[in-house]
Amino acid sequence: MKKAVIIVPTYNEIGSIEEVINQIFTVAKTINNWEIHILVVDSNSNDGTEEKIIELRNKFSKLHLLKTKKEGLGRAYTQGFKEALEKLNPFVLFEMDADLSHPAEKIPEFLKEIEKGADFVIGSRYIKGGSIPNNWGIHRKIFSILGNLIVRMGFMKLQINDWTGGFRAIKSWVVKISLPHIKNYSGYVFQIAFLDYALKNNIHFKEVPFHFKDRTKGLSKINSLHYITQIILYILTQSSFVRFFIVGLLGFSLDFGLSYVFIEKIKSSIWLATIISTETAIINNFFLNNFWSFAHKKIQGGGLSYFFQFIKFNFVSLGAILIQTIGITLAVNSFGKSNWYIYKIIIILFIVIPYSYILYNKLVWKER
Ligand code: GDD
Ligand code: MN
Repeated sequence: MKKAVIIVPTYNEIGSIEEVINQIFTVAKTINNWEIHILVVDSNSNDGTEEKIIELRNKFSKLHLLKTKKEGLGRAYTQGFKEALEKLNPFVLFEMDADLSHPAEKIPEFLKEIEKGADFVIGSRYIKGGSIPNNWGIHRKIFSILGNLIVRMGFMKLQINDWTGGFRAIKSWVVKISLPHIKNYSGYVFQIAFLDYALKNNIHFKEVPFHFKDRTKGLSKINSLHYITQIILYILTQSSFVRFFIVGLLGFSLDFGLSYVFIEKIKSSIWLATIISTETAIINNFFLNNFWSFAHKKIQGGGLSYFFQFIKFNFVSLGAILIQTIGITLAVNSFGKSNWYIYKIIIILFIVIPYSYILYNKLVWKER
């Protein structure tokens, strides 16, 4: 029988922890092909949570406890993952809160998706059949929705609807390969870092909807402002899309700067200056994208495959130039010349950038 270990992090959850454990083990009885364990990771609670777990261990042989220092949710999870992998030999690991926000009756559905081939099952509040609490204050609602929107746009991975949630089931091998990355994120942002890293390693993901219930006991430990700052920092430093954007800006400056030098200073012909500057920008963008923006899916297979991908890259870039030229000509012909730079910006933002990003991902840096 395969084993699933449900990691439940706790910090002062005496009001709900017993109920959570009871609910999980009650549901576990209805699942016959999985052996369900719970590992509570308690960060030095001072309300008796730890003592409660020790007491409950007499009743439940599959309940385990790991005591840690209070260093944030991400740290608690990394330590819990390590402990479970070392001592319990699980096939799949769950993340689940201790405040009854996550419905235990969804656990069988998560396991079904794992059986069907998912590596990473995401409990989702933002798809049909899922929700955030009605009674959440407007601030918390906005933060939650805005946070997720920023992440979806920042990574340009619109397929995923809930990036920040903490109700998940992940196959052990995915946890194992992700540990070196996620151990750098000690707070709530580790949720995003974990999913991002897993996706960069081509996991199969599946979203399962659930209704997030507001806690009725104890206090939330989340600090929204700090969290949003961490999210934005993570995206700025890790998102392929942001890097692609920066590389694009760099290429544009290089193209423009070189043209200026060749035309104004060296007085070379415009066609020669244009060829040299655009091709230099293209070469620059190709290598920076390969070794930085899409480093997780660098071109493999040596010189020849570099050559072919580079040719493709040139065609995609040529397409971008054509789109711009045709687009701006059409716009100027229909609306007049005076606002040409506005048309140019609109065309770049809404046509050229999506076009290039999609084609780079589909043609040059394919998912492996
Ligand atoms: N061991 C340990 N150490 N547990 C912690 C710590 C810590 O430093 N901080 C929080 N926890 C535990 C809580 O006791 C609870 O069981 C769980 O982590 C979630 O904490 P809450 O304080 O209830 O957070 P939340 O409800 O605001 O956040 C939930 O939703 C977020 C998305 O909106 C969680 O599911 C988050 O993971 C999720 O990102
Ligand atoms: Mn909570």
